[in-house]
Amino acid sequence: MTSSSSTISLPEHSRNTGLSSPQLTPLAADFTRAVTALAVADPQLNVNDADSECCGGSCCFLSTTTMTPDYSAPSSGPGTPVPSPHASVDFPTDRAFDSLSLPLSKVMRTCRLLGVPSLPLSNIEIVWPTDALQEKEHTNDNFAAPSYLTPHFPYDVHNVPVLATRLLTGPGAIKRTYHFDLDVTNYPDEMQGVDFRVGGAVGICPANDPILVDDIFRRLGILERDSNLEITLVTKGGRWPTIWGEDKPRRLRTSMREILTWTVDLNNSVFSKSLLRVLAEYSSNKSERMILSWLCSRQGQSTFCNLRSAPYPPTLLQLLSAFPSSSPPFALLVSVLPTLMPRFYSLSSDPIHDTMPENVVNLTKITCEERERVSSIRKVEVAVTVHEAVESWRGELTVRPGNCSAFLERVAQLTMTNQKVTVPMFRGLQANPLAREFRHDGPMLLIGAGVGISPFRGFVQRRLKNANCKNKVWVLQGCRDSLVDELYAGEWGVDDGDVRKVVESRSGTKKYVQDEVVDQSALVWSVISHPEGRVFVCGSSKRMGRGVEEALKAVAKKEGNMTTEDADEFWKEKERAWQYIIETW
Ligand SMILES: Cc1cc2nc3c(=O)[nH]c(=O)nc-3n(C[C@H](O)[C@H](O)[C@H](O)COP(=O)(O)OP(=O)(O)OC[C@H]3O[C@@H](n4cnc5c(N)ncnc54)[C@H](O)[C@@H]3O)c2cc1C
Ligand SMILES: NC(=O)c1ccc[n+]([C@@H]2O[C@H](COP(=O)([O-])OP(=O)(O)OC[C@H]3O[C@@H](n4cnc5c(N)ncnc54)[C@H](OP(=O)(O)O)[C@@H]3O)[C@@H](O)[C@H]2O)c1
Repeated sequence: MTSSSSTISLPEHSRNTGLSSPQLTPLAADFTRAVTALAVADPQLNVNDADSECCGGSCCFLSTTTMTPDYSAPSSGPGTPVPSPHASVDFPTDRAFDSLSLPLSKVMRTCRLLGVPSLPLSNIEIVWPTDALQEKEHTNDNFAAPSYLTPHFPYDVHNVPVLATRLLTGPGAIKRTYHFDLDVTNYPDEMQGVDFRVGGAVGICPANDPILVDDIFRRLGILERDSNLEITLVTKGGRWPTIWGEDKPRRLRTSMREILTWTVDLNNSVFSKSLLRVLAEYSSNKSERMILSWLCSRQGQSTFCNLRSAPYPPTLLQLLSAFPSSSPPFALLVSVLPTLMPRFYSLSSDPIHDTMPENVVNLTKITCEERERVSSIRKVEVAVTVHEAVESWRGELTVRPGNCSAFLERVAQLTMTNQKVTVPMFRGLQANPLAREFRHDGPMLLIGAGVGISPFRGFVQRRLKNANCKNKVWVLQGCRDSLVDELYAGEWGVDDGDVRKVVESRSGTKKYVQDEVVDQSALVWSVISHPEGRVFVCGSSKRMGRGVEEALKAVAKKEGNMTTEDADEFWKEKERAWQYIIETW
């Protein structure tokens, strides 16, 4: 996935790519002509209408070129009537295009595009079999990832059976949270001495939504039958598509469907100049090509940055829908898409506790014969909240879920109808701050909101096993309404009422968890003043994390008679000493 580096003559570059795309050269010539036509049409326009505002995302450092008028191009040769830019521009009328809110008058005013990136060179090739074409056996049905994924070098992906899932939230909850029991009995012994740990996290490699994958194939004009055929994917180097495999050339048996499903992110961070450049190159419509080229030129810089740093930058499907004439070759397209990365989920239980899965036995109503086998199963548990954002570019309001949480919701729905499903999982962060700083003794205050509370369930389970620690753990849990989204209600052990306080943000007294921190300032102070005392915080960084930090400073001011500066320094010092541990996201 490299890009070429010299000043470009577009048609030449296109030939150099050596990709399986016979239409490349004519399109590239058209591309130059479209830009040229505008330049010739109005020589009075400001040539240096460059917009240099920058988002700091280093997109400006891509190798670039200036697209100068090409007077030798047939459409602008002597005797050829000069087209009016306004007459020749035929902007797309699609909702997806409108949703980009492009400053079209600026596009129209531009006569010479500066800093257009060179067409990226793909190091990926697709080789079709020389013998009879056959369908690749797809593992999508059981959610098993292709074996070449290496999400934690040097180990390949491990597909873990899902024992049971259940919805932790009730009807009417603003967000849905699912609980998963994952069977790790046969999880390979990867590194001596490394095991699942209370407070640790597992990584999950998600698959893209099959409906989205179909929509993209449709947009690219690739038939379902062809998308399923077995191909050889040849890469000249790099880690892709393995995630974190070795940097080396590869030849892999796969299919276009498998590649689009498991190896590239179709939603997040796709909006790049390389992608826009590729879409421009393969747009058969002049106006679309011109707009896409403008967007990746220096003149389009601030519009590009605004779109990229928007809360929800355009997705691949949104771009393909906004510029429907663009149909890049599959190999080149995937070479400019980001790798689909694993997501992490904290263990919501003590993995030692989980060697006896009583609730799996109860939930799945298994037979007596199976009971013996099940009692030897080792499981880990996680809780996952489904991320959803509303998008409107299709013309109606639709919900766009997060990649991995939606993937896991699909897994949950199948498991809840008794279907056997596996998920690609790996033993991820077992040395993260929560896992590393969990101690078997010493007083502990655990503060979390939403699904951020889940790792603390494992802490409490472990603590309550030790009689000496009974009075040494306290939980402050934030939720919206305890009737529908108090996670793991009633599952915190016999002393639940003594160790846990729930605060609701949208019901009852309507408090945030940090308000309770201030109300419990004597408890907070006694925990943190103990030489072995620890305060753990987990949840959303942007929202709860900052609020709790302020509340803890208020406690230090009140209980320790400190100034604002002293309170600030006090908690910084506690953080350095690993007595104040924050894991927020
Ligand atoms: C150490 C650690 C532990 C964690 N533990 C947990 C845990 O126990 N439980 C838990 O639930 N989470 C946990 N997380 C968070 C988790 O890893 C994921 O970040 C989370 O599930 C979201 O991932 P996703 O793939 O579903 O969403 P993503 O695909 O990453 O998207 C994130 C959000 O952005 C929106 N979005 C992105 N792009 C667009 C776009 N173009 N248009 C519209 N919307 C868009 C999505 O809808 C979604 O809301 C943890 C994270 C870390 C680092
Ligand atoms: N180990 C980790 O790093 C880890 C583990 C698990 C989860 N997480 C992360 O934790 C977050 C939890 O998300 P979630 O979706 O379950 O819950 P959430 O959306 O963050 O909401 C949970 C509760 O927090 C409240 N809240 C909103 N703004 C707040 C603020 N400024 N201060 C305090 N509370 C506030 C919400 O109230 P209102 O909606 O009423 O405002 C709600 O009651 C996610 O970002 C997840 O990725 C991280």
